[in-house]
Amino acid sequence: MEKRAKLYEGKAKILYATKDPRMVIQHFKDDATAFNGEKKDTIRDKGVVNNLISSRLMEILGVVGIPTHFVERLNDRDQLVFKVQIVPVEVVIRNRVAGSLAKRLGLKEGDQLHRPLVEFYYKSDALGDPLVTVDHVELFGWAEHEEIEWIVETCHRVNDALLAYFAGIDIDLIDYKLEFGRIADDHGEEALVLADEISPDTCRLWDRKTGKKLDKDRFRQDLGGITEAYHEVATRMKLM
Ligand code: TMP
Repeated sequence: MEKRAKLYEGKAKILYATKDPRMVIQHFKDDATAFNGEKKDTIRDKGVVNNLISSRLMEILGVVGIPTHFVERLNDRDQLVFKVQIVPVEVVIRNRVAGSLAKRLGLKEGDQLHRPLVEFYYKSDALGDPLVTVDHVELFGWAEHEEIEWIVETCHRVNDALLAYFAGIDIDLIDYKLEFGRIADDHGEEALVLADEISPDTCRLWDRKTGKKLDKDRFRQDLGGITEAYHEVATRMKLM
């Protein structure tokens, strides 16, 4: 499948049209940003490693019955995915306290939550992706009531699968961000699928034994060893 026109360039990825109007190529860059684009750098091979990791995680979720946009990994930096109309909401699933949850509510980083927490953030760089409630999501028409119910239920299924998978490679899945999109299904009806990426850019992944951070917090917090940490995740996943 060849790349055609560039459709969209985001902070870490580019989307290209293909000859099939239902599909696009998702290209992974080495660019990294944090704090709403304020902090910027490039991380060597990040795009290659995230393409490998995200492809495998989407495949694993596909196997347990989660519908995703993922079709196939084409090469080092490109994957073929279904073109979706993205729901303008970032859904964050948390198993332990970290990041903005610790800060906002004054909680201790690393504390276990007694059940997974699902949060919604409105996707708007201009507004800094503000936290919103499900009622905002419904009232402003970002998703319908039934869609929100399906998204929350799907997040719990994704979480069960990812927690078990990462535990098997000695990684604690602390929290992560998911995005969903709409595609036309085989009957021409709109259906939701899991979209975007799942990678150390969008997850907090801690080594089970040492607590070492194996994710983008190394970049956000200037901890160094970012490339090595991403490679460590890919190596444990047997991708490198
Ligand atoms: P937070 O604690 O900063 O709200 O982040 C929660 C999770 O979401 C964390 O695993 C990182 C991920 N995330 C993104 O993927 N993109 C973002 O823009 C932000 C703010 C967080």
